[in-house]
Amino acid sequence: MSKNKFDNIISLCKRRGFIFPSAMIYGGLQGFYDYGPHGVSMKRQLIQSWWEDYVEKRHDIHGVDGTIITHQKILQYSGHEKTFTDPMVDCRACQSRWRADLLVNNQCLACGSTDLTEPRDFNLMFQTQVGPVQHAGSQHYLRPETAQSIFTNFKNVCDSIQPKIPFGIAQAGRAFRNEITPRNFIFRVREFEQMEIEFFVKPGDDEHWHDYWVNERYDWWLKQGLTAEKLVKQVQPSDDLAHYAKATVDLCYEFPHGLEEIEGIANRTDYDLGSHSKNQDELNIQATVGKNVDSVAKLAIQDPSDKSWYIPYVIEPSAGVDRGLLALLCDAYTEEQLDNGKERTVLKLANHLSPVKVAVVPLAKNNMQIIEQSSQLVSELNSAISGSVVLENTGNVGKAYRKHDEIGTPVCVTIDFETIGADDSPTENHQTVTVRDRDTLRQTRVSTTQLAQYLNDQYFSTT
Ligand code: GAP
Repeated sequence: MSKNKFDNIISLCKRRGFIFPSAMIYGGLQGFYDYGPHGVSMKRQLIQSWWEDYVEKRHDIHGVDGTIITHQKILQYSGHEKTFTDPMVDCRACQSRWRADLLVNNQCLACGSTDLTEPRDFNLMFQTQVGPVQHAGSQHYLRPETAQSIFTNFKNVCDSIQPKIPFGIAQAGRAFRNEITPRNFIFRVREFEQMEIEFFVKPGDDEHWHDYWVNERYDWWLKQGLTAEKLVKQVQPSDDLAHYAKATVDLCYEFPHGLEEIEGIANRTDYDLGSHSKNQDELNIQATVGKNVDSVAKLAIQDPSDKSWYIPYVIEPSAGVDRGLLALLCDAYTEEQLDNGKERTVLKLANHLSPVKVAVVPLAKNNMQIIEQSSQLVSELNSAISGSVVLENTGNVGKAYRKHDEIGTPVCVTIDFETIGADDSPTENHQTVTVRDRDTLRQTRVSTTQLAQYLNDQYFSTT
């Protein structure tokens, strides 16, 4: 896909109410985006699809929802205070600031100068002040990943629901990183959402489960609609690994700006539970970030066979919601030439992710009988179909189809004079509607009494 098409996607996102630059009326805020009506609908359905597949339908993964503001000690012992940094350089010629590892030929991306400062570490965490009195202990952070509150709630979950190993804890929510150079629309931003699972296993079983999650997560993204040829598993070289990881496989998508990560599946070993746990000596584990003198919790599991304690290893599939959504938009975005020579733009989204499921289009906007029957049909379909069914009353069927092609609505249902039994219309078409398929453009006449069943069978069945 060309860069030009990427610009068209960004423009469609704004025009059709998917995604807007944040604070636009004040000139914008770099690295922040707001989701509009169709964007938020698609995003929520993507998260819901993940939650349903892993938390609701599996017996071995349990959900949590931790706070965004994170205790300073958590991010001290997790290692983020020391190591969650990117190398930053300044351009002496134009005073712009860059992430050193993203530069090409060590040149300033704004003015091309090579007169740059030496790289220095820049910590990506946003700090915040909790409570009205400022003191050393009142400085905390916005979480840079959702993972940490899963680790710090490990004992709570174990004590309250007694899961049997292997088991996972899942969380979807916001994360914040003060990226030095946010770029490529919602690909690299400063506020984003993650869907993370921490899957706890016995040490020794970790490599098997790592492979399992790489394959499982790859297949899941295909089910959301990504094209297999554009989704690649990439093993991270050992010198690129995060401070906590023994091995990581990235799922990378062929974006217009290149092959880039949408999800990382890491083997985090016992690093995190070990780091947040007291009694490290007693448990005989490596205290990677120093002995923990603040935690009161023993984050370990007792082996029922010999009553010994051990710290489980953890496999972490960590997906970016916004990056995944951007990949899905790029994959679905199609510009095509029709048989009549006209062009159309269409988002071929998977039906379960489309913001609008069905648009009901009255052929004439001033005919009361057509409008009434259309409104009634919208109510009926809204009860029968999971997701949004809307009335598209522009009076111009062509415009309605173009709009819903660009939103990705899988079907439009048109109510016309034959539906309401106009005098000169064929009786076999009375109380039937035209169902127009977004992708094939095929139009099928379906009886109003069978419509909900037909749409559920053809488009929205969950099996
Ligand atoms: N808990 C592990 C972790 O956070 P990560 O590779 O730093 O690992 C996981 O992040 C995912 O979060 C990435 O694959 C990406 O999809 C998303 N992500 C990370 N930084 C992001 C950013 N600045 N903007 C948008 N998404 C981001």
